[in-house]
Amino acid sequence: MRLDKMLSECGVATRSESGKAARAGRITVNGISVRKADQQVDPERDCVVYCGSVVRYRKYVYLMLNKPDGYISATEDGRGDPVVTELVPEEYRRMDIFPCGRLDKHTLGLMLLTNDGALSHRLLAPKSHVSKSYRFRVKFPLSESDIMALEAGVDIGGYLTKPCRVARNGERDGVITITEGKYHQIKLMMEAVHNQITELERISFGALTLDPALSRGEWRELTAQELAELQKH
Ligand code: URA
Repeated sequence: MRLDKMLSECGVATRSESGKAARAGRITVNGISVRKADQQVDPERDCVVYCGSVVRYRKYVYLMLNKPDGYISATEDGRGDPVVTELVPEEYRRMDIFPCGRLDKHTLGLMLLTNDGALSHRLLAPKSHVSKSYRFRVKFPLSESDIMALEAGVDIGGYLTKPCRVARNGERDGVITITEGKYHQIKLMMEAVHNQITELERISFGALTLDPALSRGEWRELTAQELAELQKH
């Protein structure tokens, strides 16, 4: 692979930045300074140092983000609102990460950001039935019959939702687990039982569970084990 391609895939530098850095003698490959950024390297084996930092090659990155309130699940054009990718360093944005699925502007919690389109596609495909759990709070008390209706499936604008699980913690809060992802699904499901979501936080997505050590707006890379579990889908 070309050195400048490797550096741009890793989010380290654009091709033109790599060219300039090479001419300035600021890139080494296996300890030897290179003058041209178009030379071939083996990204898995060669030791590339860019401006004093060792470059770790990886094509894909996987981040767990604890989405705060008010952020849009997009990479750009939040129409005045901030977008979730602004919460992670530039290095990842240069690797073209995007949110895997959407959370509404006021929904909080677990979000996967990645540049692995194939995995994202698999996780979001309706036939994958990936389960997602949300902690919710509603405006009015939820009755047993509301829960039975939600669990059996309710009509949201002409679509009958698939069976799901609802575990109530108090009169007005609990955890709902669904295996599909229609637009505003939980909000609309609660409206179908004449209620209203006042707080919604995603706490799990497939094999991933929101890390309680992450405060709102914080992120971290997935561990190898988390990624392996996620890839089993
Ligand atoms: N359901 C909703 O209504 N909103 C979300 O953000 C996610 C699921």
